[in-house]
Amino acid sequence: MKRLPFIAGNWKMNKTVEESLDLVRGLKVSLQGIEDVEVAIAPPFTALYAVSQELKGSSIHLAGQNLFWEEKGAFTGEISPVMLKEIHCRYAIIGHSERRQYFGETDETVNRRIKAALKQGLKVIFCVGETLEEREKGINFLVAERQIEGGLKDIGETAMQSLVVAYEPVWAIGTGKTATPRQAEEAHQFIRQKIRFLYSPKIAENLRIQYGGSVTPENIKSLMAEEDIDGALVGGTSLNAESFSRIVRFKEM
Ligand code: 13P
Repeated sequence: MKRLPFIAGNWKMNKTVEESLDLVRGLKVSLQGIEDVEVAIAPPFTALYAVSQELKGSSIHLAGQNLFWEEKGAFTGEISPVMLKEIHCRYAIIGHSERRQYFGETDETVNRRIKAALKQGLKVIFCVGETLEEREKGINFLVAERQIEGGLKDIGETAMQSLVVAYEPVWAIGTGKTATPRQAEEAHQFIRQKIRFLYSPKIAENLRIQYGGSVTPENIKSLMAEEDIDGALVGGTSLNAESFSRIVRFKEM
């Protein structure tokens, strides 16, 4: 059985509460009736509660952009998995390259966050991907392998059913330079193969792997035509209801 496509919008550090509500109201209208694609949005933390109220009764899922591994305590500036659950987040994005690049995330801290999220019953969008330098050196598969082995350390088969991988080559993020469907498919195949080896053919077969990096309404269809591309993690283009909806409705194009 083919995996259910999964399109998620990562709003990053964009949108005030009012702007978030405007965008969500637009999305509720433009995505009405969508059933054959799962949709999630990840507004900034300050807008999550208001957006979760606005999304009541809608099939659009909510995601946190990050979380900390402790449940509560003296961790100034952090947000716990329990807090995200309370406001009806279904997913948490973990290990985004911007977190790795600017905020010191390592495979080890990514692993701790993933475990904490899964333990609280959140589903995880686990991001991996190489930099331009790593690709030019020809070590992109090695990097993906290291990120996967490190990020998924001690995570069991059952927990894997609540995890989605997002392959986001850093050189394609926000640059307008999308990986070609062929380049993305190669990486996705490699990731699935690695999961097959670490877990089982069944876990690998069921795993959804999103592509992220300059996804637009113009390139989504050719990306989704690839066997191992099961969805997209969309940044810039998810900030506009009309263009994000066109991505979600890629089958109608
Ligand atoms: P862009 O779609 O803006 O390239 O961002 C991709 C991304 O980082 C999503 O998490």
